[in-house]
Amino acid sequence: MPSLGRHRQTKIYADGLLGRRPAVPTAPAALEAAAKKKLDASSAAYFLGGAGAERTMAENRAAFDRYPIVQRMLRNVSSRDLSIELFGRTLPLPFLLGPIGVLEMAHREADLAAARAASAAGIGFVTSNQASYPMEAVADAVGSGPRWFQLYWSARDELVESFLDRAERYGYEAIVVTLDTTELGWRCRDLDLGYLPFLRGRGIANYLSDPVFQRLSVADEEIGPLPRPRLGAVASLAEFLGSQRKWSRAAAPMGPKKLADSIRRFLAIYSRTDLSWDKLAALREKTRLPIVLKGILHPDDARRALDCGVDGLVVSNHGGRQVDGAAAALDQLPLVADAVESRVPVLFDSGIRTGADIVKALGLGATAVLIGRPYICGLALAGEAGVRAVIDNLAADLDLTLGLSGRRSVGELDRSIFAGSPSKAA
Ligand code: FNR
Repeated sequence: MPSLGRHRQTKIYADGLLGRRPAVPTAPAALEAAAKKKLDASSAAYFLGGAGAERTMAENRAAFDRYPIVQRMLRNVSSRDLSIELFGRTLPLPFLLGPIGVLEMAHREADLAAARAASAAGIGFVTSNQASYPMEAVADAVGSGPRWFQLYWSARDELVESFLDRAERYGYEAIVVTLDTTELGWRCRDLDLGYLPFLRGRGIANYLSDPVFQRLSVADEEIGPLPRPRLGAVASLAEFLGSQRKWSRAAAPMGPKKLADSIRRFLAIYSRTDLSWDKLAALREKTRLPIVLKGILHPDDARRALDCGVDGLVVSNHGGRQVDGAAAALDQLPLVADAVESRVPVLFDSGIRTGADIVKALGLGATAVLIGRPYICGLALAGEAGVRAVIDNLAADLDLTLGLSGRRSVGELDRSIFAGSPSKAA
C-alpha cells in the first residue's frame, strides 16, 4: 500500500503522462501567483495583504528558515500516522482550515465550498464570524464533520450570546475567540484602494441572519459617517446591490435601504476595544463548548488564559494583518508551548505553506495548525475542488516530509527534529 504522500505524487505524475498539469499549483509561490491572477485587484489586496509595510508577514515566513530539520536515517518509516486527538475527536490530519472572512470574494460558494472540502477530507473547519453565509448554512455544508465557530467579540453582549447560542444549536464543537482584532490593522493595500468589503454588504452574513442583530437599536452617534451608496460610484453601488440581491435570494428579502442600515449598524458594533481578562469569566459562563483563544503570543498571556480556564490556544499574529513589525508567530510558539506544559492544546497559524512548515510547527509544540491563505488561493482557483487540492497537497507533502525525516507519526514530533543542527532550536 503506497503511503498517502506517494499516492498523491503518483497521481499527479500519471496525469502528467496524459498531458495534464495540476490546476492548483503545488508550489506555494505559484499557488499565490495563480490566485492573484484570477482575483480582481480589491480581492487580491484583501486576501494577500497585511498590515503596514508587511514586515510581520515576511517575518512569519522567514522564521521557518531558522528551524532547519535534521533528517534521521534507517528508522523503518514504512507505515505512518498523521492523526491527532483534539477535543475528543480523532482527526486524520494535524491541520484544520482556519477562520477566513469574506470568502465570497474568492468564489461565489465561499465558506460552503471550503466547508465541503474540509468535511470530505475529514479535517476540521473553523467558520469565521465574518463568513459569507450564515453559520447554520456552513454547518449544513460541513455535515457530520468537525466544525468550530470563530467569534469576534461584539460591542453588544446580547449579540455575542446569540452567536454562541446559534453555534451550540448547530453542532459547533468549539468557540475560537479571536483576540487580536479588537480593531482592524492599518492595511495599506486595502486603504489605497479604499476597499473594505463589509461596507459593501460582504462578509456580514452572520449579522444579517441574526434575530438579535435585526432588533438591535444603535444610537446615531455610535454610527460613524458613511455615505449612502449613490449613482456616482457605479462600481461600489453595483457591488452593494449584488450583495443585496444575493442576500435576498439566500435568506429573507432585504431591500437596499434595510441593507444599508444594517451595514451602518454592523459598523457601530463589530469591534470592541474595551475587552479585558475579567470578561473571559463571563464568556466561560455563557457557553458549555470548549473555548480556544486565538492570537496569543506572549507566554504570560498563555498562563493567564489557563488561569481563566480556557480549553485551548492558537499562537497567531493573524497572518501579519494586524501589527506591522511584530514578532514572527513561529518564534513565539515554543515560548507559549513551554508556558502551557501540555495542559491544553496549543494550535498555531501564520505562515504555514508546506508540509515541512507543519512538521516544524508540531516540532515546536503545536498540537495542530490552521491553514489560511493557501486554501483561499485554492478556493479562488477551483472552488471546492481547489480547496480539496490544497488539503491533499499539504497532507501528501507532510506525509513525505515526516517519513523522509525519519519519523513514523506526528505524535513523535518534538524539538529533536532540529537536533544536530547548529541553529538556536537544536
Ligand atoms: C484572516 N484571518 C481571520 N481570523 C479570524 O479569526 N477571523 C477572520 O474572519 C479572519 N479573516 C481573515 C481574512 C483573510 C483574508 C486572512 C488572510 C486572514 C486570520 C486567519 O485565521 C489566520 O490567522 C491567518 O490567515 C494565518 O496567516 P497565513 O498562514 O494565512 O499567512
